[in-house]
Amino acid sequence: MSCLALVPAAGGGSRMGAERPKQYLPLAGQPLIRHALATLCAVPAIERVYVVLAPDDHYWRDGDFADLAAKLRVLRCGGATRAESVGNGLKAMAGEVAEDDWVLVHDAARACLTVAQVEALIGAVGDDPVGGILAVPVADTLKREERGRIAATVVRDGLWQAQTPQMFRHGLLSEALEFTPGVTDEAGAIEALGLHPRLVAGDAGNFKITYPLDLYLAEIILRHGGRRGEQ
Ligand code: CTP
Ligand code: MG
Repeated sequence: MSCLALVPAAGGGSRMGAERPKQYLPLAGQPLIRHALATLCAVPAIERVYVVLAPDDHYWRDGDFADLAAKLRVLRCGGATRAESVGNGLKAMAGEVAEDDWVLVHDAARACLTVAQVEALIGAVGDDPVGGILAVPVADTLKREERGRIAATVVRDGLWQAQTPQMFRHGLLSEALEFTPGVTDEAGAIEALGLHPRLVAGDAGNFKITYPLDLYLAEIILRHGGRRGEQ
C-alpha cells in the first residue's frame, strides 16, 4: 500500500483579490504553491505528489520545480470547484494507483504545512478502515448571527476546524466524491457515505491562506523556519 499526495491548485483566489491566483503570489522568496509541494515531496512515505492546475494555467511554467521532479506530477485538469478539481485529479491519477492506496489531499493554499504534521497524520491514521484528517479544536467562542445581532452562543465542546491533508483510500474517496460532489472537503463526502473519519490534532500553523493578512502571517512563520522545534 502506497501514499500519494494530491494538491488542488486550480482556484482563482477571489478573496485574496490579487492580480493573479493566490497560489502564484510570492511568499518567503518562492511562489506560494511551492511551499506545500516541497513539504509533501520531502515526506519519505509519500511516493508521488500530483498537483492539479487549471487547464489554462499560464503561471506554473514561470516557477522552478526542477528539484521536486522525482516525485512531482502535473495534472492540468482543474474544475469549477475544489471538489471537482480533486475528483478530476483522482481520475487522472487512477492508472498509476491501486484502489487501496492512500491519497493525502492537501490545499495548495496551506503553505505552512510541515513534514512533522504530515507524518503525524500518516502515523495516526495507520491502517484505519476509513481514513482521517488534520484538524484543530475550535478555540474561540462561537456566535450564531441573525440580522447583525447574536442569536445564540454555540456550544464549542467537540467542535473542530478541518484542515488538510485529508487522507483516504483512492477507491473510497473517488466513489464518495462521485456520490456527493457538492462538498467543501473530502471528509464531507466520506461522511455522506455514513462513515466517520478519524480526527488527528494538528495545529493552527497549518492555516489556509485566504485573505491578504494571511499572506503576511505565513511569511512570518516561513521566514522563522523550524517553528515549534520542527522542520
Ligand atoms: N481549488 C481548486 N479548484 C477550484 C477551487 C479551488 O483546485 N475550482 C483549490 C485552490 O487552488 C486551493 C484549495 O482548492 O489550493 C482551497 O481553495 P480556496 O482556499 O477556496 O482557494 P480559491 O478557491 O482559489 O480562493 P477563493 O475561494 O477565495 O476564490
Ligand atoms: Mg474557494
